[in-house]
Amino acid sequence: MTTKQIYRLSTQKLKEAGIKSSEIDARLLICHALNISPEKFIIDSEKEISFVKIRKINNLIKKRALNIPVAYLTGEKEFFGLNFRVNKNVLIPRPETEWIVEKSIKSVKPKVDKIKVLDMGTGTGNIIISLAINSDADFFACDISADALAVAKQNAKRNNIEEKIKFYESDLFSNKKLKQKFNLIIANLPYVPKKDKDKSVKFEPVNAIFANDNGSEIIKRFLKQAPNYLQSNGTILIELDPRNANELKSFAKKYFPDQKIGLEEDLAGFLRYLVVEN
Ligand SMILES: C[S@@+](CC[C@H](N)C(=O)[O-])C[C@H]1O[C@@H](n2cnc3c(N)ncnc32)[C@H](O)[C@@H]1O
Repeated sequence: MTTKQIYRLSTQKLKEAGIKSSEIDARLLICHALNISPEKFIIDSEKEISFVKIRKINNLIKKRALNIPVAYLTGEKEFFGLNFRVNKNVLIPRPETEWIVEKSIKSVKPKVDKIKVLDMGTGTGNIIISLAINSDADFFACDISADALAVAKQNAKRNNIEEKIKFYESDLFSNKKLKQKFNLIIANLPYVPKKDKDKSVKFEPVNAIFANDNGSEIIKRFLKQAPNYLQSNGTILIELDPRNANELKSFAKKYFPDQKIGLEEDLAGFLRYLVVEN
């Protein structure tokens, strides 16, 4: 069987299983199994594949047909042009989070003095690593999950940037090492209402995604604590559930009465980000 033939067959199987991204997923999984780049996938389309590789591809396609995310099958996910290791202990980075990195770079780059940046709920480390590669500051990241932190540290190492970032296990700001003032605090904490549990995500860690109080509980706790850890001219960037955007904006106003509080849209036009700044 050639690469092209197994690709057609795999795409068909995924389509029949109701996977909308059947073509992209089949290509990604075949490239992963054959350990080849997307370019090589095209060049090698008439090449015969060994029986062992065919079995490997079929196994991956079977798992994908059960809805297991591609990133968990390949063990990696691209974010902000970089490659991140992922496993079942971390949320798979989402494209909408790239906005936070872009906004952070704009906020860090013009500063003359070295500033301190904290990434709260770092997960794979995707935000802080992308930022550390693209700007200069003192970088800190924390997560309540030791397993997630292990992945983040591994990703920092992979990107040769482990010396630039300090990682701490912490429930919000509770770790004593975080008792300091930051110029920029980024928080992509769990924000999906628990009532959505059944219909959406089945494979990613629930503690990385869902929160009580219609998805707002952890963000509200964060907003209550954050004034003690933010420099007077500092900035906070939060990703949130658009359904809670206006309520969280009013909530933030209570704790940051002198700052500008704004909401920003994602590419789909949903109010996805809360910005606290001067
Ligand atoms: C939505 S994921 C975001 C992961 C990553 N920052 C990203 O953008 O893809 C939320 C992360 O917050 C962590 N988390 C949940 N509750 C927390 C808390 N109370 N304090 C610190 N981190 C928390 C979870 O373990 C998870 O890694």
